[in-house]
Amino acid sequence: MRIERVCILGGSGFVGRHLANRLQPEGIRIRVPTQRRERARHLLIVPGVELIEADIHDTQRLTELFQDVDAVINLVGILNESGSDGSGFRRAHVELTEKALAACRQAGVKRYLHMSALGADAHRGPSFYQKTKGEAEELARAAHSDDLAVTIFRPSVIFGHEDSFFNRFAGLLKVAPGIFPLPTPWARFAPVYVGDVCEAFVLSLRDRDTFGQTYDLCGPKEYNLKELVDYTARLAGLKRIVWPAPDWLSRLQAKLLGLWPTKPYSRDNYLSATVDNVSSDNGLPKLGIHPTAVEAVVPAYIGARHIRGLYNQFRKTARR
Ligand SMILES: NC(=O)c1ccc[n+]([C@@H]2O[C@H](COP(=O)([O-])OP(=O)(O)OC[C@H]3O[C@@H](n4cnc5c(N)ncnc54)[C@H](OP(=O)(O)O)[C@@H]3O)[C@@H](O)[C@H]2O)c1
Repeated sequence: MRIERVCILGGSGFVGRHLANRLQPEGIRIRVPTQRRERARHLLIVPGVELIEADIHDTQRLTELFQDVDAVINLVGILNESGSDGSGFRRAHVELTEKALAACRQAGVKRYLHMSALGADAHRGPSFYQKTKGEAEELARAAHSDDLAVTIFRPSVIFGHEDSFFNRFAGLLKVAPGIFPLPTPWARFAPVYVGDVCEAFVLSLRDRDTFGQTYDLCGPKEYNLKELVDYTARLAGLKRIVWPAPDWLSRLQAKLLGLWPTKPYSRDNYLSATVDNVSSDNGLPKLGIHPTAVEAVVPAYIGARHIRGLYNQFRKTARR
């Protein structure tokens, strides 16, 4: 299958940025529709990227955007919605997937890669995030045919430069007083490197063996949340006691923080973390990708910031 141009929905986000940079040397041209071009301007410096401000919830517009592309990659996902009845999750995950698949058919697109998440489960997922991700997965799976080859990816939490996991915890730990009460401390994760996730997408684009397949994507090691946050504090040079919050307090934190306009933590996030984010069937080795360890990458961005801070402090003391 010849893949010369792809359209990435949700391509302006963390994974999308890395993926665009990984696709570019393959000579693949990339179209990224975005709700706000200004917020996605970091992509303008990537050669071969065409950034278009568009409403991708409009099926007609989507069909136009897909007209001359060989593959569509759907990375759209949200961790929180503005309301609390699940309709925001449904719109971003289920309805958008439905529209993207319909637009693929109308525009004659032959290849569709779908980003889901480990734990996505339309029936047993405890959170709206997991339920709607699961429903979207089912739609994508059902759409696989001779005319549209579908591949689905289900990563655990993804790490890498500018991730929203280690960076977020480093930021929270920084402003926390001596003790940091951590909700759902025993939830388990197998963090997977964004570079490996992008590699899986790129490899699968043209590989017929991946057509119609679903791949869990995990790192080489499992950790509980407390281990990961303790590690972040150590790397960031922050002396904090990461205190495992009991379940009642985790729920209370979710309730209170969910009332903030920016929802730094919500009931839905809490519910998602009641299911372990790990898998016994890692797809990376099946794709020939050796999973990268957290310890090989995270110190380069969390630790480096700490060392820069020490250096600045030293300069200040030395009045230089
Ligand atoms: N990061 C992780 O640890 C992780 C783990 C497992 C699965 N995933 C999945 O991987 C995908 C990418 O994650 P990410 O971390 O790159 O996310 P991200 O940085 O938040 O980017 C998601 C993108 O989706 C678009 N988007 C958000 N809400 C939308 C909506 N309602 N309608 C249309 N577009 C919308 C945004 O693009 P514009 O605002 O520019 O339009 C945004 O750039 C998601 O599907 C996520 O669920 C991520």
